[in-house]
Amino acid sequence: MNIWQQLPKPLFVLAPMEDVTDTVFRQIILATGRPSLFFTEFTNVDGLNSAGFDQVAKRLKFLKKEKPIIAQIWGMKPENFYKTAQKLVEMGFDGIDLNMGCPQHDVTSHGACSALIKNHTLATEIIRATQEGAGDLPVSVKTRIGFGTIQTEEWLGFLLTHNLAALTVHGRTVKEMSKVPAHWDEIGKAVVLRDEMFKTYSSSEEQGDESRSLKDSSSRQARTIKNKTLIVGNGDVMSLQEAEEKVKEYGLDGIMVGRGIFHNPWLFNGKVNPEAQSLTERLELLKNHVELYIKTWGSSKPYPPLKKYFKIYLSGFDGASEVRTKFMETNTPSEAIALVNSFLKTYTPQVQS
Ligand SMILES: Cc1cc2nc3c(=O)[nH]c(=O)nc-3n(C[C@H](O)[C@H](O)[C@H](O)COP(=O)(O)O)c2cc1C
Repeated sequence: MNIWQQLPKPLFVLAPMEDVTDTVFRQIILATGRPSLFFTEFTNVDGLNSAGFDQVAKRLKFLKKEKPIIAQIWGMKPENFYKTAQKLVEMGFDGIDLNMGCPQHDVTSHGACSALIKNHTLATEIIRATQEGAGDLPVSVKTRIGFGTIQTEEWLGFLLTHNLAALTVHGRTVKEMSKVPAHWDEIGKAVVLRDEMFKTYSSSEEQGDESRSLKDSSSRQARTIKNKTLIVGNGDVMSLQEAEEKVKEYGLDGIMVGRGIFHNPWLFNGKVNPEAQSLTERLELLKNHVELYIKTWGSSKPYPPLKKYFKIYLSGFDGASEVRTKFMETNTPSEAIALVNSFLKTYTPQVQS
């Protein structure tokens, strides 16, 4: 059984987010509320197979306690996916995810990530090469519901013929970026499609008809899957309760949450009400993040990018904006920690009457 099958359902997964979900942030989220699975930021396979390996591989850094963790990769050359998959096995990842959803022009203009929605041949070559290199490690795909228009049946139906362990469906087209609400009905359609394709295989197997269902005409082949690919829905989910509702409504195996974590770092912890978290607790989180960032990256990562996390911790209480402004004016990690300490000394938690 691979990790996708082993984990209790439904799965609640923290989305891969470039420049956000590094090992440091994942460790913070471990302390606030553990998701079922972590993903790394998307990492380029061509970079991993170049002289710049050390620099690129920082994205794949993880500690044992972050497991189970899936490495997300992207690129153009199937042979580099094959070699990378072999490396990821050695590095101890629990699975490999292929990014076929990133809409950024600098990647799609080269034909990578979501541009694969328009290039089924290369998408197949990449999946096959990764599966070969991965051996027993499960391979999954994260994608959108189409490129210029909604193509749920055509694109997701095609992906589902590839014996994937899981398929994460972000319910928007590439063209829609993040500008419209996610189309959850289309995510639901992916589940129906998967169930129909799986049923077709099972019933043909019952009739001893396996070879026909798999090798017959291409249209029949495209409607058949041997293993049940798990479907994980993604888009605009802001709480665990909402995630649970979506699982029930659409029959999903799991939900992936991205930006929701910016509004509530305790999101994966069903027992914590974020509004009840005091400034002291929020400041402690910020301090832990700064200390861990320095311990992990030293001077190899600059200070300013760390500031984008401050809003996650310093929101949702009276006077948050003023407190945040003070932190944004700091120029070094030590200044930020000194500021936390001075707030902690002077702050008196309000006692609820
Ligand atoms: C800052 C940021 C970085 C992202 N980086 C990645 C990435 O590296 N790989 C990926 O598959 N998706 C990436 N995404 C997309 C998210 O994983 C997710 O699909 C998207 O945000 C929709 O989910 P949400 O509405 O829960 O945020 C990124 C999104 C954001 C906001």
